[in-house]
Amino acid sequence: MQGMMQLRSCAILELDDDGLIHDGTAGVESIYGYAREELRGRSFASLFSRADQERGMHLALLARVREQGIEQSACPLVRRDGTRFRAALTMERGVFDGGAPRILMVVRDITEFFQNQKRVQEAQESAMRAQRLDAFGKLTLELAHDFNNLLSVIANSLDMLSARRAEDEGTRRLLDLAHRAVERGTGLTRQMLVFGRGQALVPQLCRVNDLLVASRDLYQRVCGEGVQVTLDLAEDLPPVAVDVGQLEAALLNLLGNSRDAIGGRGDVLLQARLEQRPVASGIGSAGYIRVTVGDSGPGIGREIRDTVFEPFFTTKPEGQGSGLGLSQVHGFVAQSGGMAEIGTSTLGGAAVSMYFPVAEGASGA
Ligand SMILES: Nc1ncnc2c1ncn2[C@@H]1O[C@H](COP(=O)(O)OP(=O)(O)OP(=O)(O)O)[C@@H](O)[C@H]1O
Ligand SMILES: [Mg+2]
Repeated sequence: MQGMMQLRSCAILELDDDGLIHDGTAGVESIYGYAREELRGRSFASLFSRADQERGMHLALLARVREQGIEQSACPLVRRDGTRFRAALTMERGVFDGGAPRILMVVRDITEFFQNQKRVQEAQESAMRAQRLDAFGKLTLELAHDFNNLLSVIANSLDMLSARRAEDEGTRRLLDLAHRAVERGTGLTRQMLVFGRGQALVPQLCRVNDLLVASRDLYQRVCGEGVQVTLDLAEDLPPVAVDVGQLEAALLNLLGNSRDAIGGRGDVLLQARLEQRPVASGIGSAGYIRVTVGDSGPGIGREIRDTVFEPFFTTKPEGQGSGLGLSQVHGFVAQSGGMAEIGTSTLGGAAVSMYFPVAEGASGA
């Protein structure tokens, strides 16, 4: 291994047929943190994590290179200090200078490349999710408008019928029932409008901490006695420009979800923080206020995280959920120039975060 060009992100190890290291290029120092002498005589198994060793990952690689003569793969390896990194491996077996067979193992540290790939993939996935929700929003908006028109015709007719002062109790009760159904229908279409971003918002400058502190008792009542509601608010948060009524509605939707998820006994954490996030839309140079509702429930599984924001998606038994809560949250936050995100709470359950851009021209306090 003398006289070879030395690369920092690439190391070449020479192994015998059983995986014992004979020598390596200087790259082993920058990649693995080992001095060359330290590696001589060791098994190359020590470059794998204990779990991967137990799984026999190194033995499988060795077996394949012995069988095929060459093996290429990407796998996690560990450095001398125990940290893991992503490696691209090429192992080639041959007989050099007529001696015993040797295996040359070329290792390239591709951690950065791997992470960049992951970031690009995540960005693509999130753009696709946004597009899907957008398309859904347009459809929902059209439906909501049509239903609203129908509901107003029904409501007007019911009003006229009621004005005729129905004689018998039975008719009055039926009219009452129909009135309430129309009200409920109007409520649902309002939420659909919010999801489709068709609701006229009335933004006003608001400090979320003040709102959260003022409504704390209400939140506790919504969650019930067996639930401990805690506020964790960063100090001196700059204001946001949002529709306060919709923000309250969104918070109540999230708290209602947490209450249902923890089944009456557990913890709910309301957090407010200032965050700097890169955004595709280019807004929010002054950052975002993140408001998160987290709980100690079972959490929201990865397999449904893409769908929970869609209108009418619910896992609750019939009659207990219309599936419009999170779609209201998504629509309202998006229409306010922010975004909503599902994550995992420090309490173990779901954490739903709403990001609102800091109001333009707002100072730090
Ligand atoms: N905090 C949470 N923990 C666990 N699952 C949740 C949580 N919040 C939402 N979910 C899941 O997301 C689904 C959709 O929630 P969403 O608020 O949109 O509708 P819903 O609560 O089912 O009905 P609605 O809010 O209209 O009464 C829920 O049915 C539930 O499966
Ligand atoms: Mg809900």
